[in-house]
Amino acid sequence: MSNTVHILDHPLIHHKLAILRDERTGTREFRAVTSEIAALMCYEATRDMPTREVEVKTPLGIAHCKTLAGKKVAIVPILRAGLGMVDGMLSMLPSAKVGHIGLYRDPDTFAPVEYYCKMPPDISEREAIIIDPMLATGGSASAAAQFLKGYGCRHIRMMNILAAPEGIERMQREHPDVDIYVAAVDERLNEHGYIVPGLGDAGDRIFGTK
Ligand code: PRP
Ligand code: URA
Repeated sequence: MSNTVHILDHPLIHHKLAILRDERTGTREFRAVTSEIAALMCYEATRDMPTREVEVKTPLGIAHCKTLAGKKVAIVPILRAGLGMVDGMLSMLPSAKVGHIGLYRDPDTFAPVEYYCKMPPDISEREAIIIDPMLATGGSASAAAQFLKGYGCRHIRMMNILAAPEGIERMQREHPDVDIYVAAVDERLNEHGYIVPGLGDAGDRIFGTK
């Protein structure tokens, strides 16, 4: 099995991604646009979710409608930067539960270091969508997917705004069952493990810490 990489090629996403990439974009706008992109990506990444037919009584008659029928959703941001995508996701999936995984990259080895985890109690029953703006070496994404599998999750999707080919390859090797949704795949990683041309440090730009 090999996971599917969905590149969400949409004019609105392209336009907003150009704003995120721009070094002149300040914290306030960066945060708002990150959330808007997350909402647009959520719309695209939930296209295949199952529905069931229902009849709804309108003021004028009976309408044949569809409502979501599959597993309930858990949104799982990787702290910190993943937090910037939570509100956008919840604007589309307001009933979703949110689990948090705290990971930071060791600056020398790029290995993910875990510092926090709190999941909804029924996480194993839910369709989990991991969110993080950046998929660089793939260390954090792979650790998060492993974590969720440890909790019994069997249906996991990964959503990133930007990815490097290295991160996608790692996820394909280590988690071939996890589909990936990205707005763009960039050229490469630099010697510091940053995506080039990328958008810089997503956490610092969302929270204004640099
Ligand atoms: C960033 C980003 C990802 C990770 C990606 O987080 O938000 O979680 O790096 O890199 P990887 O694919 O090589 O693991 P960072 O570790 O900078 O922490 P932060 O969100 O707290 O800033
Ligand atoms: N984390 C970031 O925030 N940016 C990158 O380019 C790589 C990892």
